[in-house]
Amino acid sequence: MLSDQDRIFTNLYGMHDRSLAGARKRGHWDGTKEILARGRDKIVEEVKASGLRGRGGAGFPTGLKWSFMPKESDGRPCYLVINADESEPGTCKDREIMRHDPHTLIEGALIASFAMGAHAAYIYIRGEYIREREALQAAIDECYDAGLIGRNACGSGYDFDLYLHHGAGAYICGEETALLESLEGKKGMPRMKPPFPAGAGLYGCPTTVNNVESIAVTPTILRRGPDWFASFGRPNNAGTKLFALTGHVNTPCVFEDQMSLPVRELIEKHGGGIRGGWDNLKAIIPGGASCPVLRRDQIEDGIMDFDWMRENQSSFGTGCMIIMDQSVDVVKAIWRLSKFFKHESCGQCTPCREGTGWMMRVMDRLVRGEAEIEEIDMLFDVSKQVEGHTICALGDAAAWPIQGLIRNFREEIEDRIKARKTGRMGAMAAE
Ligand code: NAI
Ligand code: SF4
Repeated sequence: MLSDQDRIFTNLYGMHDRSLAGARKRGHWDGTKEILARGRDKIVEEVKASGLRGRGGAGFPTGLKWSFMPKESDGRPCYLVINADESEPGTCKDREIMRHDPHTLIEGALIASFAMGAHAAYIYIRGEYIREREALQAAIDECYDAGLIGRNACGSGYDFDLYLHHGAGAYICGEETALLESLEGKKGMPRMKPPFPAGAGLYGCPTTVNNVESIAVTPTILRRGPDWFASFGRPNNAGTKLFALTGHVNTPCVFEDQMSLPVRELIEKHGGGIRGGWDNLKAIIPGGASCPVLRRDQIEDGIMDFDWMRENQSSFGTGCMIIMDQSVDVVKAIWRLSKFFKHESCGQCTPCREGTGWMMRVMDRLVRGEAEIEEIDMLFDVSKQVEGHTICALGDAAAWPIQGLIRNFREEIEDRIKARKTGRMGAMAAE
C-alpha cells in the first residue's frame, strides 16, 4: 500500500491550499534550479529509467517520447503541449490536479520543456473546466511574479513561457493532432500520423504532447529518483497513479495509489466497496469509455495495470473505472456510449463517419430487442472493419466497447432479442 509520504498529489486529500506558499510547504518548487542544472540528457534519462508511461490513456513511455525531440535546433522552435482536454466519459483525474495541485503541473511543465529544448509550453484545457482554468491561471500568475517561470526561470538562465488555452468543448480536440489544429486556430480535426508531433507538431515545429498527470509527476520523480518511482507496480507498469472510481461504489472518488494492485482491493479500500456488497457487482469499464467492459468473474483476480488489462482483452486507459452493479442494463449502457462516439466523430474518414453511425443504429435495434440474432456477429464484424482503419483512435474507441459487450455479455443481448420475439420485452424496453 502506498504510504502518505509516497503520494505525489498530497493536496487531493483535504489540505486545499493550492497557493504557491502551500505548494512550497508540500515540497513543490524545491530545488528546481538544481534539477535543471543536471542538463537535458540526464533529465530525459531519469524519466526513462523511472518507467513512467503516459497517463492520458495510451501508455506510451514518457521519457522515450521526450527523446524523440531534436537535440540540436534546426531553426524551428520546439514546443511542449499539455493535454488537459480531459473528456473521456468516466475520467476526471486531471481535473483534480488542476483544481488542487496546479503548481506541480507548472513545475513539471518547466522541467519537461527544458528537457526538450522548448521555451514555450501550452496547456490546452477542456472548455467545461472553468474553475480549473481559473485555478491554473492564478497559479501561473503567481509563478511569473515569483520568477519561477518567465525570463531566467528559477534563476536557471532559461527563459520559459507558459500559456493556458481554453478549448470549446469538443471531445475530438483531446486527440493530440486535433488539439494542435485547434490550438493553431483551425477546426479540430485529427492529422494523419506519421509524422508524429516530434517531427512536425504545433505550427509544423517539433512538439511533444503529454497528459497533465504525466507532466505533473515528473518533478517528484526527479527529486526522489527514478528508482523510487520504479519501485511501485510491476515491471512495465511502474509508478504511482491517480485512479478514479465512479458509478456504484459506496464512495466515488479520485485517489492516488500504486500501479498493479488488485482491482478488488482498490474498490474495497478506496471506494468503500460495491453498493450492496461485492456480489452485487456486475461489470466494470476499467479506464474510460473506450475500454472493453469486463464481467465481475473476469476481474475477480484482476490487476489494475496496462499489461493485465491488455492480456485480458480490455485496456487500462486512464485508470478511471466505471463500476456497474446488478441494476445496470449493460446493453443499454454500451448503446449510450455508441451514441456518444457517433456524435463526437469529426466525420473526416469514412470508416469512422459511416461506421459509428452504422454501429449506433444496430445498437439502437439491439437495445430494443428488435435485431436478429445473426446481427450480433455482423455488428462484431463491422466493428472490426472500423478498428485500425481510421485516421485517429476515435474509430477504435467506438469499436472496442461494442466488441467487449458482444464478447462478455452476448447472452444478455440474445435474451432481449428472444424476449422481444416472445413478447416478454416489458421492463427491458429502452426508453
Ligand atoms: P497512440 O497510441 O496513437 O499515441 C500515444 C502517444 O504516443 C502519442 O503522443 C503519439 O504521438 C506517441 N506515439 C505513438 N507511436 C509513436 C511513434 N512510433 N513515434 C513517435 N511517437 C509515437 O494513442 P492516442 O491516440 O494518442 O491516444 C489514445 C488513447 O487516449 C486511448 O487509448 C484512450 O484511452 C485515451 N483517451 C483519453 C482521453 C482522456 O480524456 N484522457 C480521451 C480520449 C481518449
Ligand atoms: Fe475523425 Fe473519426 Fe476519422 Fe478520427 S477516426 S479522424 S474522429 S472521422
